[in-house]
Parts: sequence; structure tokens; C-alpha cells
Amino acid sequence: MVNSPAPADFAHAVDLLNAGALVALPTETVYGLGADASNPDAVAKIFAAKGRPADHPLIVHLANAEAMQDWARDVPEYARQLAAAFWPGPLTLILKKQSWVLDAVTGGQDTVGLRVPAHPVALELLRCFAASRHDSPAGIAAPSANRFGRISPTTAEHVRDEFADATPFILDGGPCAVGIESTIVDCSRHQPVVLRPGHITAAQIAAVLSGEQAQSPANDMHAARKAAPRVSGSLAAHYAPATPLRIVKSQDIPEVLAVWQHAGKRCGVVAYSVDPRDASFHELVRMPATSMEYAQGLYAALRKLDAEGLDQIIVEALPDSQDWAAVADRLQRATAAHALADSSGR
Ligand code: TXA
Ligand code: MG
Repeated sequence: MVNSPAPADFAHAVDLLNAGALVALPTETVYGLGADASNPDAVAKIFAAKGRPADHPLIVHLANAEAMQDWARDVPEYARQLAAAFWPGPLTLILKKQSWVLDAVTGGQDTVGLRVPAHPVALELLRCFAASRHDSPAGIAAPSANRFGRISPTTAEHVRDEFADATPFILDGGPCAVGIESTIVDCSRHQPVVLRPGHITAAQIAAVLSGEQAQSPANDMHAARKAAPRVSGSLAAHYAPATPLRIVKSQDIPEVLAVWQHAGKRCGVVAYSVDPRDASFHELVRMPATSMEYAQGLYAALRKLDAEGLDQIIVEALPDSQDWAAVADRLQRATAAHALADSSGR
């Protein structure tokens, strides 16, 4: 269900952007915390609001693929093919940047992340913003609208939960359809490399490319990790609820629950196939059994359970197949946050 804000809301959002203020906007993946990407003071407000380290680059959102040339140079043919095939959509392209693009946006790197989002509200805002800028480049720098390291928001309510009294103006576009962050493809090298898996899979990317480039869009999470903090989502610990989270194989869930129950602890369970019967000491969130619907509801499920003050969240292990790769990636990082906290004694 897509909400549509009133024309006056779009006009207000554009005024705020032009005044260097932040605006939260819906995209098809997650809500973003947006600022005028060409205004250093505005971009600085994003980092302050999120508590995000300054060397973590931001994605610049554009109204259309033609605007790519304002921000990127030496765009390889394969990147143009990807833009033509998947924009507007949940795909971010990392490209060599134009020299004027702010260091605050790129984390001081020679590349910039660009994306044309598919959400009608985001597109309308981007179009109105571009119209207000006449011929100068109009891009909205927007990371996910959550505090650094926390769960990305997929509703306007989630954004309010994150920022409370400091909540910026929000364009409410209803719940996000995709639910997890965009696929990121590094197009600054000879070959495309997937830096962050997402709704658009490596196989889909390979299918639109030809020749040499089609052979290697394989995930390169190893390279992405080595390159961290270039890709903040590539930090091993990210997207995490405050409650400790553990992934448990379907058949082991009853036993693990019994142990927690015996210890007098309360658990939350996120399950798509098992149905733990005794609900007296746990909260169950039933998830759809298809990867796309599961992704759509994942962050809302984690936020719901995180708000219950439970001792542990148990997530049923996912099927081991390619279409679950992006969801599995996000869950893995949510778990890693607590493994790190445990090992460092926090
Ligand atoms: O779906 C999405 O991508 C959402 C919506 C709002 O568009 N945005 C999002 O932004 O997830 P954020 O900041 O939470 O994650 C963006 C990722 C980060 O991991 C960042 O490091 C990476 O993109 N990134 C941005 N520019 C980059 C660059 N020049 N080189 C490498 N990674 C880059
Ligand atoms: Mg994020």
C-alpha cells in the first residue's frame, strides 16, 4: 500500500532540502534520511543525526538515469546496461565520481554510489527537487533512516521510533515493498562486483550483461569486507536489534526453547516453517516462506520483538539457496553484532 503525501508536502520537503535541512523519504527498499547532496552542511547533518562515522560514504539518489553524468565520469558500458535494466529500482552503482562531488558524500573516495529509487514518492520528491534546481545537479544523499548500526526502517513509524524528538520531516509513503537495502554493485573497475547482496541478485545482473562482464558479477563480500569501512553495510556487525539474536536450525528450535524456558527466560521466535506450540514464555512472529515476502517483513519483525524486552531472539535458520542470500546476509550481521559484544565483554 503506497501512501501519497499532498503536493504541499512535496513542496515543503523541497524547501527543507534547499534550506539545508533533512527530510526522511520512503524508498522501495527502506526509508532514507535525505539531504541535498551538494550542500556540505546539509550532508553533515545526516552524519550527526545517525551517529555515523564520517568516512562511511552515502548513496546519492537521482530522479533518472540521465542525471548519472552529473555525478559520475568514465561510466562503463556495463554500468549503463545495469542502469537501463534496473532503474528505477533497488540497485546502487558505485562509479568514478565527478571531481566536484563532496568528500563528505563519498567518504573521501574517488567513487560515488548512485541510485534511482522505484518508490513513487521518492521519485516525485526527486523530480520536484530537480525542478527547483534548474540546471544544477540535484541529488539527495540518503542513508537508511536509522541510528548507526541499527535496523533500517521500513515504515514512517520506524523512523519516528529511531529519532523521537529529533525526527525530521517525514514523507510517509507507507510500508516499503522490498524491505531490505539495495544491491550494491561496484562499477568502478573493469568487472562488476556485488558489494552488498539485495533484492536484485547476482544472477539477474549477469543475465543483462554480455561477454566478459557477465561472467563475474559474483558476490565479492570478501573484497567488500576488506574494503570496509567503504561499505558500512559490509561491517560484520550491522542491522542489529538490541536484544541478542541467534539463528537456530528448524529442528533444534524446540530444544533451544526448552532450555531458555527452564532458565526462566523469555524468547522471541521468528519462524517461517516450524510452529513452536507452547506460547507461554515466548513471542512468535510467523514469517512468509518465500524470500521476497520474508525480506519485506524482516525488519518490522525484528523491531517488534526488540521492543518486547525479551532475553533472546531466536531466528529459524533460512533455506540455503541463492534467493535467500540477501536476507541471510542481513541476519548474519544482526547476529554478529552480539557475538562481537560478547567477545569484548560488553
Ligand atoms: O536501499 C538502500 O540502499 C537505502 C535506501 C535509502 O536507498 N540506503 C542505504 O544507505 O542502505 P546506507 O547508507 O545505509 O548504506 C549505503 C551503503 C553503505 O554500505 C555505504 O558504505 C555504501 O553504500 N556506499 C556508498 N557509497 C559508496 C562508495 N562510493 N563506495 C563504496 N560503498 C559505498
Ligand atoms: Mg544503513
